[in-house]
Amino acid sequence: MTKQPFYITTPIYYPSDNLHIGHAYCTTIADTIARYQRLQGKEVFFLTGSDEHGQKIQRKAQEKGITPLEYVTPIVDNFKVLWEKLGITNDDFIRTSEERHYKVVQAIFEKIFAKGDIYKSTYEGLYCTPCETFWLERQLEDGKCPDCKRPVETVQEESYFFKMGKYQDALLAHIEAHPEFIQPASRRNEMINFIKQGLEDLCISRTTFDWGIPVPVDNKHVVYVWFDALTNYITAAGYLDNPEKFAKFWPASLHLVGKEIMRFHTIIWPIILMALELPLPEKVYGHGWLVVEGDKMSKSKGNVIDPLGLIEEFGADSIRYFLLREITLGSDGNFSREALINRINSDLANDLGNLLHRTLGMIEKFSNSVILPAAQPNALDQELMALTQQTVINYQENMNNMEINSAMREIWQLISRANKYIDESMPWALAKDPAQKERLNTVLYNLAEVLRIVAILVSPYIPHTSPKIYAQLGLSIAEFSLVDTAWGGLPANTAINKQQPVFPRIDLAEKMAEVAPQLPEPLAPLKEEFSIDDFAKCDLRVAKVLAAEKVKKADKLLKLEVDLGHETRTVISGIALHYQPEELVGKHVVMVINLKAAKIRGVESRGMILAASDDQGNLQVVEVPGMKIGSLVK
Ligand code: ME8
Ligand code: MG
Repeated sequence: MTKQPFYITTPIYYPSDNLHIGHAYCTTIADTIARYQRLQGKEVFFLTGSDEHGQKIQRKAQEKGITPLEYVTPIVDNFKVLWEKLGITNDDFIRTSEERHYKVVQAIFEKIFAKGDIYKSTYEGLYCTPCETFWLERQLEDGKCPDCKRPVETVQEESYFFKMGKYQDALLAHIEAHPEFIQPASRRNEMINFIKQGLEDLCISRTTFDWGIPVPVDNKHVVYVWFDALTNYITAAGYLDNPEKFAKFWPASLHLVGKEIMRFHTIIWPIILMALELPLPEKVYGHGWLVVEGDKMSKSKGNVIDPLGLIEEFGADSIRYFLLREITLGSDGNFSREALINRINSDLANDLGNLLHRTLGMIEKFSNSVILPAAQPNALDQELMALTQQTVINYQENMNNMEINSAMREIWQLISRANKYIDESMPWALAKDPAQKERLNTVLYNLAEVLRIVAILVSPYIPHTSPKIYAQLGLSIAEFSLVDTAWGGLPANTAINKQQPVFPRIDLAEKMAEVAPQLPEPLAPLKEEFSIDDFAKCDLRVAKVLAAEKVKKADKLLKLEVDLGHETRTVISGIALHYQPEELVGKHVVMVINLKAAKIRGVESRGMILAASDDQGNLQVVEVPGMKIGSLVK
């Protein structure tokens, strides 16, 4: 019988930097689904890769004085090391810098161009030459580049455009007719609304940099980002070089992507495919975003989590388990060390680890390390067997619906039930009575059999551990399969091979102490101590901003009118680079009102608005929304 194909992809990540835990999250989900589909007997083609072109990478390479390819190659090698360590079973890894990809991008460009869906025009925009960046009017600050504060110019750049609008109705009709196409459903509505606002033609070429795939009909141009990047999915499936493979695996069964790039995958990509007269992917799923200890990850905050370090510290399966179990697919989630350690201890060391270790310990002690045949089941046994079979069914249903953590919850309910079954059937008591030998054998067989089936079910999540469970049960396996989850598959008289626990407990307090002493340096030098009486001299009040305007010829200054309840005042505040005047109006802010008046640019300023600023040049005024005007702050 030929196997049913299943083609699954991750985004191809930018090799501008090493990958972080967010990328590992997406790839872990994709790997889990790939493994699950193989478990079901499908022929899986699982693709990941790197998206290497573009101005950002060209510039980074220039700064280092090397070619873009020299810049990205070691980073891409690190991607591969990470995937290897995490146990990712991708069947191919595509780099957009590869020859096979150049050929496909150029071929599809030519094809769509010949059809008349690509045309040349000029793109007019506000351009900052030193930064090589186009800006929109509303992004400018004081009419200048928001990055370098230098003047921008209106420039025209010749570009090729893709007629997206032409396919708008056909795409909407497809989305309406295929409810499974965009998932989760919340994203689907978002995309429908976006399309209904009307699609503009897409700029798909650039002339201001050259690290990209040359436009075949016009070598001055390189193909611009998404037209290049998205095409990777058909390149790797053999669109040009392997028609047989392409016929088998296209359309993709699932593009798994982060929610921020859903628009590209559910609008631009389907329209490119329509122009090529190729079938659309069956499903695009937008997963949520991972934050770290409640905060968005960013280099400047220094909270970017390196997955390689975590794997080193806790092991790949623990990290995989945590990412899959802790976060509901489709929703945003939080990564914290404490939650990770708690999960490892409770679910892996306690529930699963203990079930295995206790069971093997009893088989060792009571049956000379051999799993003896089971006799007739009693009611308690039958309940355990029925729950096991029901768990397999629920697991498949959940996994087929991409409800990964529900599937995991089902399995852990079974594990808990089996742990309770030990307490209820009390093998240690049975072992004392020779008349109960058959009963004892039955209980121990059933426990080993639950563990064997659990090992199969968890193999997509913790793939390094499942073979270890099998090995400790005295079994060997070439490939896990759902076919083997039928009750009774464990051969009687198997000799076990008990080893150390698969998940040792982690001492939470000790682990947290290891990371605690690394407190950051203070942002600014600390000031001298002073008494509360001195502080009390400072009269701080809640004030409401009534009006704000820029101070002429002073980039940084805003002139504010504020209401203190008993009077209104004028203050000059050095926050113009951070706030548009209209943003401030209506805010309840904190103000020092007994500071000596000062003349600034000819205006008398009476008071000072409090603001926080960091070492990155970010600034935010202190707000007390809703507080009564004139309230004392102390
Ligand atoms: O966008 N939480 O590449 P990219 C969860 N090259 N997932 C995260 C994440 C986070 N905090 N941060 C990143 C690109 N991701 C393009 C894609 S595809 C044809 C081209 C994951 O390196 C998530 O899956 O910015 C997101 O969509 C992807 O990394 C973006 O990776
Ligand atoms: Mg991105």
